[in-house]
Amino acid sequence: MSDFMDYKHAISIRYSCRSYLPDKIEASIVEKLQASITDYNLLSGLNIQLILNNGDAFSGLSKSYGMFSGVNNYIAMIGRSNGIHEKEKIGYYGEKLVLEATEYGLGTCWVAGTYNKDACVCKLGSREEIYCVIPIGYPAVKKSFKDKLINTVVNTKKKPVKDFFDSKNNIPDWFLEGIKAVQSAPSAVNKQPVKFSFTDDTNETLPSVHAWITSNRYGTEQIDLGIAKLHFEIGASDVDWEWED
Ligand SMILES: Cc1cc2nc3c(=O)[nH]c(=O)nc-3n(C[C@H](O)[C@H](O)[C@H](O)COP(=O)(O)O)c2cc1C
Repeated sequence: MSDFMDYKHAISIRYSCRSYLPDKIEASIVEKLQASITDYNLLSGLNIQLILNNGDAFSGLSKSYGMFSGVNNYIAMIGRSNGIHEKEKIGYYGEKLVLEATEYGLGTCWVAGTYNKDACVCKLGSREEIYCVIPIGYPAVKKSFKDKLINTVVNTKKKPVKDFFDSKNNIPDWFLEGIKAVQSAPSAVNKQPVKFSFTDDTNETLPSVHAWITSNRYGTEQIDLGIAKLHFEIGASDVDWEWED
């Protein structure tokens, strides 16, 4: 993760943007995003690609691509078809890019369903597939009527903090901070299908955190989990702890 990036701030202002201005993304920002993508591909084995100046995957009015307007760029989240934890990695590294783009003043939206996969112009290796795309660009200044309608239909209201863990006395502050960051995470159909628990530290070990999905209905829950785990790491970054799994 870039040490100088204010990921907590990005979490506090991010939202799913579905209307974009036609302006090209500034070259210096493209360079920074491209550098992150190269890093994350090396770290994860994913094949993330930034597609610029091509909105074909969002043009046409069938299949509700019309939910989006002005999409000219997107990040194609590509990984191996049967890779271990591939969906979780897609969520984790894709959300890093989302938060970085947010800090650069760009709008983003995770999209698993409402786009035309066949019209994507990225290059797939053998046994690779596109799991999701993330439109990226300068947000239209005012939220459009369409944005407002979608926010009402999808219901962007977040679950209460207590629903992300099974109640336990004396929840430590660092754990609660992690959960608050999870509460603001994007998730498919806003289902937020994730829960977290922690085990206290002992003399020899750090406190550990376990995270899991609470349903498996849409096939996107492991992506939601990867996104939520990144948010937890950012929210709980003031103390040392480790993942249990
Ligand atoms: C894995 C994933 C897939 C998503 N797929 C779509 C999609 O196909 N179309 C869409 O309009 N929004 C999609 N979204 C965006 C969610 O609807 C959005 O994150 C959620 O409603 C919460 O709103 P917020 O991101 O503004 O906090 C997706 C989000 C995630 C994480």
